[in-house]
Amino acid sequence: MLARQALRSLSSHSRLFSSSSARQTKVAVLGAGGGIGQPLSLLLKTDPLVSSLSLYDIRGAPGVAADVSHIDTASEVTGYAADKLDEALDGVKVVVIPAGVPRKPGMTRDDLFNTNASIVRDLAAAVGRVSPEAHILVISNPVNSTVPIVASVLEQAGVFDPRRLFGVTTLDVVRAARFLSGITGASPSETPVTVVGGHSGVTIVPLLSQSAHGKSVTGEPLGQIVHRIQYGGDEVVKAKDGAGSATLSMAYAGAKFTHALLRGLNGEKGVITPTFVKSDLYASQGIDFFSSNVELGVNGVEKIHPVGPISAEEQKLLDAALPELKKNIEKGKAFVAQS
Ligand code: NAI
Repeated sequence: MLARQALRSLSSHSRLFSSSSARQTKVAVLGAGGGIGQPLSLLLKTDPLVSSLSLYDIRGAPGVAADVSHIDTASEVTGYAADKLDEALDGVKVVVIPAGVPRKPGMTRDDLFNTNASIVRDLAAAVGRVSPEAHILVISNPVNSTVPIVASVLEQAGVFDPRRLFGVTTLDVVRAARFLSGITGASPSETPVTVVGGHSGVTIVPLLSQSAHGKSVTGEPLGQIVHRIQYGGDEVVKAKDGAGSATLSMAYAGAKFTHALLRGLNGEKGVITPTFVKSDLYASQGIDFFSSNVELGVNGVEKIHPVGPISAEEQKLLDAALPELKKNIEKGKAFVAQS
């Protein structure tokens, strides 16, 4: 009873899903049986903008689908086993990809490259073949490389549209708001922070100077919160002690970003959030993917916002982020070129 009430409140009242609309959408989760995939599927089942949920994994998706399908919201749920990827992708408008291996203590996101690069490449090729017009949301790490991998695969297939590819960096934004709330005492809803750059270590650049509450944080506390936002994922990896990385907070962040995109696709104006996309902002420095505030609209990426005014400290962070980001992007592209 309590769980049921909790879910009702999640779908109808929470900040996660704050609006509803007549137009609804078929969404696929690739990697739905995993640590992120399962709670993400649960949250998407409670999203009123999702009409149909297609759950795919090489292991366990039909079971997750049967379980989630009993939740009393209107959407239909279907699970697909390993050999049913094309069926899973049929008619989907949005594909969320949390497939791949997570970090263990001592690993960086880049250490995941060898395994996850080929998983993401093959899934992207299937999306390009079966649902070339789908919007693709990449969660699998290292996001700084896996997003360029998806772009290159779709480019080779002749179906790449940069308005429809997103690296999900929302967990950095969620963490930044939560951590800033923790030190200012204000509610996280009042402490949003724009996070730009990429999604790993030094490439994560939180712009606290642009936040009403954040700009009051200076000196040592500023250095500490920036470091915590950049390396918050390590806290979870360490605490889970070999059992993986962030899954529950990531599922929340993934559902939150998916909902924002669905609002934009449904014609809502002014939906703006950071996400890692093909971007001209630093293209002159050879960096053609970058996360900054992006307005989401009926076609996906509607407008990429510039980074805007930043402090001297933030400029230093950005200067440190760009070369690393460039390397990560080039690694992803080279992988597809050599495949
Ligand atoms: P997990 O190991 O619990 O789940 C991964 C799932 O992917 C498994 O169920 C596995 O069977 C499935 N899978 C593997 N190969 C597949 C394929 N070819 N097709 C479909 N499914 C396949 O891992 P977890 O914790 O769910 O993490 C998933 C990914 O998300 C990792 O790469 C992790 O680093 C990343 N991640 C990203 C974050 C972000 O902020 N973008 C935050 C946290 C994790």
